[in-house]
Amino acid sequence: MTISRAADSSHRDGGRGSDLPALDLLASAVLLLDADGAVRHANAAAENLFGLSRRQLMGNPAPALFVDGPTLMASLREGRDNRFAEKGLPLAVARPGAEPHHVSAVLVVLHGQPWAFLLEVREIEHRRRIERATEQWERADAQREVLRNLAHEVKNPLGGLRGAAQLLQDELADAQLMEYTQVIIAEADRLHALVDRILAPHRTPRLLSQLNIHEVCERVAALVQAEYGAGLTIMRDYDISVPELQADREQLIQVVLNIVRNAAQALGERRRQGDAEIVLRTRVMRQVTLARRRHALAVALSIADNGPGIPDSIRDRIFHPLVSGKEGGTGLGLSLVQTFVQQHGGVVTVESAPGDTVFELLLPLRHLQIPESES
Ligand SMILES: Nc1ncnc2c1ncn2[C@@H]1O[C@H](COP(=O)(O)OP(=O)(O)OP(=O)(O)O)[C@@H](O)[C@H]1O
Ligand SMILES: [Mg+2]
Repeated sequence: MTISRAADSSHRDGGRGSDLPALDLLASAVLLLDADGAVRHANAAAENLFGLSRRQLMGNPAPALFVDGPTLMASLREGRDNRFAEKGLPLAVARPGAEPHHVSAVLVVLHGQPWAFLLEVREIEHRRRIERATEQWERADAQREVLRNLAHEVKNPLGGLRGAAQLLQDELADAQLMEYTQVIIAEADRLHALVDRILAPHRTPRLLSQLNIHEVCERVAALVQAEYGAGLTIMRDYDISVPELQADREQLIQVVLNIVRNAAQALGERRRQGDAEIVLRTRVMRQVTLARRRHALAVALSIADNGPGIPDSIRDRIFHPLVSGKEGGTGLGLSLVQTFVQQHGGVVTVESAPGDTVFELLLPLRHLQIPESES
């Protein structure tokens, strides 16, 4: 397996402040434009959305940031002629090497201001995906509770059952009959292991420490590399400006490992062809609402694979316990992922189509205020 390292994309200002800090509190991207449509100010959410720092955005013609630039250009002309005061525009953000990102924008004509226009852009898809993930988690959590209670109920009689089979086996003189007791013992052990996996996430207390998300990624990449040899390329696209986060190291490794391992397993066919790819990408996110709480700063880790995609039949239930689409799968991996991520105050989302499946972990960065206070 080869590992190629994409260029580090530390494209943000690393917390450099803006001269209009209040705009950085907004979840919508805001661009202030001059009469020619060039960017004169960008807020923090705009840096997120366009994947460019303020410095890089500054002076750029705003239409160049969108696939449908000419539409915006025409509206800027109309705005200059005072043909409207405010206008809604469905636009799509250009993203090199990826599908355009659909957004809804509002262009406001300003008067008596140092700027000629205000362009407010809302990310429809991403926010909806996070909201959907929160609802999904709540549904799956109800199932997990039922399952946990059941696991507790099964555990004690299972021990008795196995013990009795063992005693019976010790008394049996007939080797042929022993085959039956051995089946009972083996099946009881299998069930016991399953019950343990169901109960495990709630047993060990979390051990929080400051850690670097990239260390976790590297550790997982090394493990998956060792496990799934040839034909798989793991690529990295790290934003090295991501601050350290407070998390339980072992749990976070387990989370990332479960997702990356699922991806490697789904890539079986492509690994045989030699063109299986997994991309680990990190980004800083500002002003995000995760699990119904607003955070000034969060880290987004996305894990993308070019496998066949999640089967339609289980798409809505993959985070539910015991839901598996593969032979021999227990269906506990993603349920555990969701539990651990939720315990860290984060959210896990998924988008899947043939050739492009992306799991995204969003984890809040605690103890950090909005970046202005750092500078
Ligand atoms: N990257 C992916 N591409 C395609 N399908 C996926 C991907 N990730 C998960 N899945 C589907 O979601 C199912 C549930 O995953 P989950 O990790 O919860 O269970 P599992 O992998 O089947 O079993 P376990 O992880 O407990 O060994 C998988 O069986 C698979 O069908
Ligand atoms: Mg799994």
